[in-house]
Amino acid sequence: MERKIIATSALPYANGPIHIGHLVEYFQTDIWVRFEKICGNKCLYFCADDAHGTPIMISARKAEVEPEKFVERIHKEHKKDFDGFFVEFDNYYTTHSPENKAFSELFFNRLNKRGSITKRSVEQSYCNKCEMFLPDRFIRGTCPKCKAEDQYGDSCDCCGANYQPTELAEPHCATCGEKPVLKKSEHYFFKLSDFKEQLVDLIASGYTQKSVANKLEEWFASGLKDWDISRDKPYFGFNIPGEKDKFFYVWLDAPIGYMASCKNYCDKNELDFENLWNSGDYELYHFIGKDIMYFHALFWPAMLLGADFRVADKLFVHGFLNVNGKKMSKSKGTFIKAATYLKYLDPEFLRYYYAAKLTDGIEDIDLSVDDFVGRTNSELVGKFANLASRSIPMLTGKLDSTLGELDGDGKSLIEDLIAAKDSIVGNYESLKFAAAVRQINALADKSNRYVEQNQPWAMVKTDLEKTRIILTAIINAVRILTIYLKPILPKYAEKVEKILNVESLQFADVEKLLVNHKINNFERLFERIDKKQVEKMIEESKNGCQASDKSKNEDSIEPITAECTIDDFAKIDMRIAKVLKAESVEGADKLLRLQLDLGNCQKEVLAGIAKAYKPDELVGKIVICLANLKPRKMKFGVSEGMILAAGPGGEDIFVLSADSGVKPGQRVG
Ligand code: MSP
Ligand code: ZN
Repeated sequence: MERKIIATSALPYANGPIHIGHLVEYFQTDIWVRFEKICGNKCLYFCADDAHGTPIMISARKAEVEPEKFVERIHKEHKKDFDGFFVEFDNYYTTHSPENKAFSELFFNRLNKRGSITKRSVEQSYCNKCEMFLPDRFIRGTCPKCKAEDQYGDSCDCCGANYQPTELAEPHCATCGEKPVLKKSEHYFFKLSDFKEQLVDLIASGYTQKSVANKLEEWFASGLKDWDISRDKPYFGFNIPGEKDKFFYVWLDAPIGYMASCKNYCDKNELDFENLWNSGDYELYHFIGKDIMYFHALFWPAMLLGADFRVADKLFVHGFLNVNGKKMSKSKGTFIKAATYLKYLDPEFLRYYYAAKLTDGIEDIDLSVDDFVGRTNSELVGKFANLASRSIPMLTGKLDSTLGELDGDGKSLIEDLIAAKDSIVGNYESLKFAAAVRQINALADKSNRYVEQNQPWAMVKTDLEKTRIILTAIINAVRILTIYLKPILPKYAEKVEKILNVESLQFADVEKLLVNHKINNFERLFERIDKKQVEKMIEESKNGCQASDKSKNEDSIEPITAECTIDDFAKIDMRIAKVLKAESVEGADKLLRLQLDLGNCQKEVLAGIAKAYKPDELVGKIVICLANLKPRKMKFGVSEGMILAAGPGGEDIFVLSADSGVKPGQRVG
């Protein structure tokens, strides 16, 4: 009987791009969901952007847009990245939604009513200049242990120590540099310990993996503390009912976002939310990374229990991605954005590589660049695509594109391939993708041996009909292997389906032989990776991480940033301009306001050169102006361009000027 299933992946923060680390999770879930679908089950995949919290609010400020606009922009980018990697959600929503607001209030009110919310005063770091409480990550200072400067408020990147922000020497606000003070405020707390018994039972019943349960043991043993679920303004989030200046902490409304995404899907498709989410008619599974298991194994089920909603059937926790054995790193170029990857490599290569490494455990997985190139070329290209390219073009070229029957040997090969089905299905179902990929590879090896033994390329010269029989077996092997790989390689499967002239393949088709059937022309399935492509991608992913050390060593040269192409450069329009007017800007001791003549137009530009030039020195000067820079709204007005200058900064900035005989407006470069 058809099963009904809902699956979710953790909601990525709307604070930055999707990177190859995130993709471990979205691939794991997407592969599983696709597997369920082609087994004939009904499976819905819900996700959303996690749109709230201080970091997002600050990022929006830096980008000089409203947080709503900011998260909308990121939402589009995330969606594009997921599409590019064939991660196919049934609904990809946002936590900044009316559905989520309504659910969050409902949770709060129900938890409050049953007495699981308390209120008390807490003392926290506050920045008087920014007029906000500072989360640990927004306080910087000197590490109390190793004395490294400029470390976060909760941990030191240099020596790895963990501490309280109040222990930092010379603490300062990460945004404005001001020394924080301690300030009291009322906070709402969720009494997690009210649910201790139920949580212990839930974990004991197999809610999550053994290794996760062991970790949870430690937490139970050390006692379940009350959880602070409120934040003071300014905050980007939902108001707490009955409060003007207090908001739900982002982690309160984030998991509720799973439900909101489901509700939004139901409303769009005229389905009953109660039935999908709450009735038990649908199995429910959450996929998450190990860094957020505390939230998903304790807080979230406790919230659901307290608010009378059903808890998921299972929580699947995966490990973290390392690259070449180390944490992803910006300076090494291994912090690779999804969008950067897509510029250089086929998305299915990464899907396959992760699948080949994924188990049902929480161990980290390693992307070794050499291994990635090697496996892609030897397995995807050398085994799977090769089997198709050795057989299909011969059938279309020499044998009228028509499959025949199978002989005894062919039957025996195909029977072996079919016999593996249950075990492969079992491995997919239980998230042992690496084991499934190993089995499928072994079947491909067997099929390629069949090709070697029968040498169709020689036989085709002497016995056409016998060749047809051999090719029929090989092409049926291609078909079965494609079904087995389809959850991992949806695009590849689509191409094979088109070539084989068949409907969308399902697991139920494994046993259905394709004989006496006309196929379509071959098209190339995969191209080999050249290691140079990977190197270029890594080069582009390197960014001037050393930039922050600049202050320590005045002589240090900033590394050259990622390459730009000649096309990027061609977009730049530099013009000769004459400074008509120059004046200082009140309140900004580095800025000058310049009025520039560009021949056929004038532009007002705010330039950070006040320490190097007096306004009078500039009037009449011929400078070079970046004329097509998008106008930028700054605190002191709109700047409509940029004038080019060079130098280390401060007094040593030199405006690039041209011969005073040149006419303003002329193009430079
Ligand atoms: N917004 C929260 C989740 C809220 S769920 C109600 C969050 N977002 S995240 O963007 O930081 O991470 C999203 C998911 O990607 C998490 O499950 C996280 O574990 C996973 N990963 C992020 N970086 C990862 C790696 N480097 N490796 C593997 N998974 C990683 O947490
Ligand atoms: Zn501040």
